[in-house]
Formats: sequence, structure tokens, C-alpha cells
Amino acid sequence: MLLECLRVSSRSRSTGRGGVEPSSDLYATEGQLEQEVDEEWQGLDENVAHVPFFADRYSEAEMIKRSQAFYELLNKRRSVRFLSDEPVPREVIDNVIRTAGTSPSGAHTEPWTFVVVQDPDVKHKIREIVEEEEEINYKKRMGDKWVNDLKRLRTNWIKEYLDTAPYLILIFKQVYGRLPNGKKKTHYYNEISVSIACGILLAALQNAGLYTVTTTPLNCGPHLRALLRRPANEKLLLLLPVGYPKRDATVPVLTRKPLEDIMVVV
Ligand SMILES: Cc1cc2nc3c(=O)[nH]c(=O)nc-3n(C[C@H](O)[C@H](O)[C@H](O)COP(=O)(O)O)c2cc1C
Repeated sequence: MLLECLRVSSRSRSTGRGGVEPSSDLYATEGQLEQEVDEEWQGLDENVAHVPFFADRYSEAEMIKRSQAFYELLNKRRSVRFLSDEPVPREVIDNVIRTAGTSPSGAHTEPWTFVVVQDPDVKHKIREIVEEEEEINYKKRMGDKWVNDLKRLRTNWIKEYLDTAPYLILIFKQVYGRLPNGKKKTHYYNEISVSIACGILLAALQNAGLYTVTTTPLNCGPHLRALLRRPANEKLLLLLPVGYPKRDATVPVLTRKPLEDIMVVV
């Protein structure tokens, strides 16, 4: 905690308006830090209208029912590594990404780009890039402990789902944006914002009856960014193959921690 406070204060900067603005991202990379520290006050528009807010309200019984049903739905989510090539309506993909785009984000910067790949040739190129790097990851970069921890999941560097899944969604975090005047726009807490959006996307996929496996292909980011012609401010966060499970798909038997192990009530 103390360390975090120190990091925040050492990275705080003058806003030029008599105030001190905390640093934008506790988990920023060093490169990100340098970019942000050099920036001037950006002068975002302060004149946003504030209007009354009317929320949906349920009875307590209805709230309990809804929360239980939502838990049961999401408790059926599994990472599926065997996906069929059965087509999925594009409209569903549009809707789940719309849903992800409802995520909160630091200072409402919406620092995400969802690249949906449906072209079989591009999917195959992605597979080649990922498999080439993943083979090196498994054999050299990850180390014995990591590879051993993955054994029970039976994962390896062969990623057939990158060809078979009807869609691959690659989620990029925008580490900074651009203002209309060309200046860099700080994307506060961009990684945590995009991670929350990804969580919402996973829930939306589950709600639609679609399956995926959350993947973070190590060392593939720059190559995939170039393949997909994404700009330099975008860094790959996750790759989600999306589709229906194959008929003979299997998943490891895993248990989830019970409530008493994950919740502390004070
Ligand atoms: C940040 C993150 C990275 C992951 N990376 C991979 C990955 O690269 N390959 C893979 O097969 N699974 C990956 N997974 C999936 C996990 O192995 C999986 O979520 C975990 O085993 C629990 O299984 P479940 O998702 O079926 O509940 C990742 C999950 C998370 C949250």
C-alpha cells in the first residue's frame, strides 16, 4: 500500500490549473509513463450536461431471482479449446461487442478496439504467428514451473481453434488516444478498463450461448498488430476465438472456490 502511495505521488504532476493530478495508471509500462509525463494539460471539454437518472428498480424477491439466475448462467462458462466451424450470426457478434463497449473506463476514455476476424486466410495467418511463438514459449520462455502448471489443462502450442472458430476477436488496449488537435490524449487506467470490458464481453458471449477461451498469446502482440494494421498506440491484450463447442469437445474438471473463500464481509 505504501509502495503504491509512493508511486502515485512520485508520478503526480501539476495540471497547470492549481491542482495536482494523480498519475493515470498504477500498472502502466515504463514506456507509457514516459509518454504520459511529457504531456501537457489536455483541456478536455468541461461542458457536459448532467441530467436526472432514472434506474430500473426490482422487488427484493426479483433481485434475488435475477442474481441467482445470472450466477447460474455464468457458472456454466468454461474455457473451450475445441471449437466447431459452424457459422455464427454476425449480428450476435455485433451485439456482444456493443455490450462490451458499455464498460466503464477511466475518465470515460473507452480505450478499446475489438478486431473481429472472420476471413479464413487472416485467421490462418494468425494461427501461424501464434503457433510459432507459442512453441518457443512452451519450449524456452515459460520455464518448467509454468509448463508443469499447464499440464492438467492439456494445453500446448497447437491452436486448431484459430482456424476452426468462425470468429477471432482480438482486443487491443489503446495506451493513449488522439485529441482533435492531434495531441495525445491520456487513457487513464487503460489496461484495467479494457480488462473490465473483456469481462463483460465474456459474460455477453455466455449469455448468447457462444464459447471461447481467454488467451494471452505471449510475444505475439507486435506481429499480430502489424498483420491487422493496428496503429502504434494499440497493444494486444487478449485473443478470443468464438464459436460453438465441437460435439466431442472436452474440458478439464475444475472446481471453483466457494463464496466463503472469495468473500470477506467486514
Ligand atoms: C488472463 C488469462 C489468460 C489466459 N491465457 C490462456 C492461454 O493463453 N491459453 C489457454 O488455453 N487458456 C488461457 N486461459 C484460460 C484459463 O486456463 C482458464 O480460464 C482456467 O483454466 C479456468 O478454466 P475456465 O475458464 O474453464 O473456468 C487464460 C485465462 C485468463 C484469465
